[in-house]
Amino acid sequence: MYSRLVLTLLFAFFSSIFQVVAAATQETEASIATFISPTGAGNLTYALIAAKNGDVRMHLSAPATYQWVGVGTGSEMDGSVMFILYENADKLNATLSTRLSDGHNEPSYSKNVECELEATEGHNSIVQKDNSRYYSVNIYCRNLTAHGKGDGKLDFSNTKQPFVYAWGPADGALLSASKSASIKRHVAYGNFWIDLTKAASPNLESNITLTGNSLLITQNAGSDGQAESDGDKVGPAHAAIMLAAFVVIFPLGAVLLRFLESVKTHSIVQTIGLLATVFGVGVGLYLSRMYNHSKNVSSGHQVFGLILLILLLVQWAIGFHHHLRFRKYKRSTLYGRLHLYAGPTIVLGGIINGFTGFNFSREPHNNVYYGAVVAVVLVIVLSSLVWKRWSKNKQPKHNRIMEDDEQNHDAFRMNVVRGSGEVR
Ligand code: HEM
Ligand code: HEM
Repeated sequence: MYSRLVLTLLFAFFSSIFQVVAAATQETEASIATFISPTGAGNLTYALIAAKNGDVRMHLSAPATYQWVGVGTGSEMDGSVMFILYENADKLNATLSTRLSDGHNEPSYSKNVECELEATEGHNSIVQKDNSRYYSVNIYCRNLTAHGKGDGKLDFSNTKQPFVYAWGPADGALLSASKSASIKRHVAYGNFWIDLTKAASPNLESNITLTGNSLLITQNAGSDGQAESDGDKVGPAHAAIMLAAFVVIFPLGAVLLRFLESVKTHSIVQTIGLLATVFGVGVGLYLSRMYNHSKNVSSGHQVFGLILLILLLVQWAIGFHHHLRFRKYKRSTLYGRLHLYAGPTIVLGGIINGFTGFNFSREPHNNVYYGAVVAVVLVIVLSSLVWKRWSKNKQPKHNRIMEDDEQNHDAFRMNVVRGSGEVR
């Protein structure tokens, strides 16, 4: 009787110990998912543990060479809940910005996503690893399943829950503590999945570590192919078209008017410039939708650019109107005078808007090269116009293509085409 009782107690004791050990082993082995992807400058590592109540703990580390790095829920940007890191102004800490995305635009900060950096030693900052600087943080999120749309909403019963990851350009740190700081478009992005049924823990407060060996290999997760590089062509296209119009085409149109003495050539070239500007502004408006700092079309660069477009349309109409009147009455008009002064002013305004454009897109270093090109173009254009005017003044009167009477009415030298056979 006594020995049976002892045996039963011993059995109960060992089986409870066995259960505890089994549970602990299961918890540490099967309750974390880790995804690792090379970025070119070092690995991006994302690890996650989820609790049934919707809370999630995660780890994110990646090279701090990149202006920002981010991981988001779901298979695409639209509907994703994103965790984005960038460098704080103190250069020691990382700023965590939780953002929601509605498509192929800059995601917007949402304070409703309750995530915060955990003050784990060595994981709430920028750390030195293999001679490189890395973002390395642990994040605690409450009720994360409440956010996101479509497959961007976490489903803890999903054995292949999709995620996205991306990183920004490597051309200068953001150095901002603001959670809604403007980020530039990614240079690369990719997809991966996590088996959320395995990355679960009944209790997140239990001390499952998001450090050490569990972060060294991909487990309970997998990648959907390599990261793709993002060939952003919209920003460069806008800049190239606008600068070609204001720095090359319009100045060329002015020079050709004087050198070929052909209003027709002038009008064709300036019409091409105007069409390029209309197209470039269209691209600018499309680009504006992509970033939070430009989507309201209220910045100086955008408003001034739109004003310049309107002035250019008026300038084109005035030039045409003057030309028709000159052909009819053979005398200078007020429209002609206006056209003559407004032209260089608008073109100069456009050239200046190029400088504000590079500042607006946080590429101010480009202004050095742009400034050099502008200086060369201005010197060539101005010196050739001055030379042409000077050489014309030296011409004997009878060689000039205009009659004296017309010359007197053409003090502004708008109409130098007499005898050229061109349509005026
Ligand atoms: C300024 C911020 C961002 C902008 C302007 C932006 C814009 C875009 C654009 C235009 C595409 C389509 C590219 C193409 O089809 O060639 C795209 C795709 C993608 N982006 Fe972003 N993105 C931004 C931030 C992010 C962030 C933070 C992530 C992830 C953390 C991300 C992940 C992705 C992924 C995975 C794709 C491919 C899947 C899809 O089409 O949604 N993006 N993005
Ligand atoms: C005279 C007219 C304009 C010129 C010469 C001009 C030129 C430029 C240049 C050089 C950039 C820098 C691009 C880069 O770094 O990749 C830029 C950026 C930009 N421009 Fe314009 N632009 C003009 C008008 C406009 C207008 C009318 C709009 C829209 C209403 C606009 C919207 C933008 C946007 C959204 C950016 C990019 C901002 C970013 O990357 O964050 N621009 N522009």
